[in-house]
Amino acid sequence: MADSTTPGTDAHSAKAKRAPPRLTMMPTEDVGPPLVEIDGLWTKFGKTVVHQDLNLEIYSGEILSIVGGSGTGKTVLLRQMLGLERPARGTVKVFGEDISAAGADQLRRMRNHWGMLFQQGALYSALTVFDNIAQPMRELRALPEDVIYDAVLLKMNMVGLGIEHAFKMPADLSGGMIKRASLARALALEPQLLFLDEPTAGLDPDLSDAFVALIQSLHRELGLTVVMVTHDLDTLFALSTRIAVLAEKHVIAIGPTRDVLAVDHPFIKQFFLGARGQRALEVLDEHDEELKQYEEENEQLEQAYQQQQQERQEQAEHGAENAAPVPLSKVPED
Ligand SMILES: Nc1ncnc2c1ncn2[C@@H]1O[C@H](COP(=O)(O)OP(=O)(O)OP(=O)(O)O)[C@@H](O)[C@H]1O
Ligand SMILES: [Mg+2]
Repeated sequence: MADSTTPGTDAHSAKAKRAPPRLTMMPTEDVGPPLVEIDGLWTKFGKTVVHQDLNLEIYSGEILSIVGGSGTGKTVLLRQMLGLERPARGTVKVFGEDISAAGADQLRRMRNHWGMLFQQGALYSALTVFDNIAQPMRELRALPEDVIYDAVLLKMNMVGLGIEHAFKMPADLSGGMIKRASLARALALEPQLLFLDEPTAGLDPDLSDAFVALIQSLHRELGLTVVMVTHDLDTLFALSTRIAVLAEKHVIAIGPTRDVLAVDHPFIKQFFLGARGQRALEVLDEHDEELKQYEEENEQLEQAYQQQQQERQEQAEHGAENAAPVPLSKVPED
């Protein structure tokens, strides 16, 4: 369902003014309650207000990207979802539980169901790659070392990090390898929800493409829900099922890429519609064209299959008519 509301067009109430335009109702099919539900969030550091009446819902199975200018509070918003910051007002619910009301035990339990790739990579510099990836499993204090050993190698394999790197120190890794090792650690406990803060920042274009492909395949194969902050348009367009734009201390627009691009807001124009944005849009067009082709081929296959099924059924019925039971009187006696 489209809603053409643009920020600032409703003069009747301040609250309505701040509500993000609901570009497309998500989800289109029934995927259950939101995994993350942020309602009327305010974040303050002293007198500085970072978020003001911010609303955001994230559903199971999506890749939601958060974009916004530097210092607009994207990382702090992720930290709110992780229970690392406290709302000054409003609520942040993850897996249906109010995170600011969660006690230490509850928070620890919730942490086992999400993984986080921090903006700065954030591997422990004094630990080897192996020990970094093993650390969330060891914290559980429930797994024997041989199980952890196998699991670490499995995760390294999953993110395309050769086991020959297992006993290197982070300082001896390239930028791309640090990202992969950090991702392996974020996946250590097989989370449902993966948070990524600028996952491709600092990677050259080839490594960045490879990392995007990796996230795509993990999303598909593990059925992960991904919440990502990125300013990289190629990453954004290649991965996002929806984009949330953070500006003026709240989410000013949320929806599928094309719908967000159509919102009339200075940040959106400046961010998406420069030369870089145009190039990334062309890539999006190519993707759409490929997807259309794929869907058409699928439809043709489906039609051919239906036709074949129908012919088979007709043949079977026809055959059954021809093979009508022989009257008993005509059954030859032997
Ligand atoms: N612990 C803190 N104490 C005080 N101010 C903070 C703290 N953490 C963040 N801030 C402030 O909150 C604002 C938002 O920071 P945040 O790191 O979320 O920005 P960002 O959108 O992630 O920026 P970037 O794109 O540069 O990563 C900034 O002005 C920052 O200085
Ligand atoms: Mg940040």
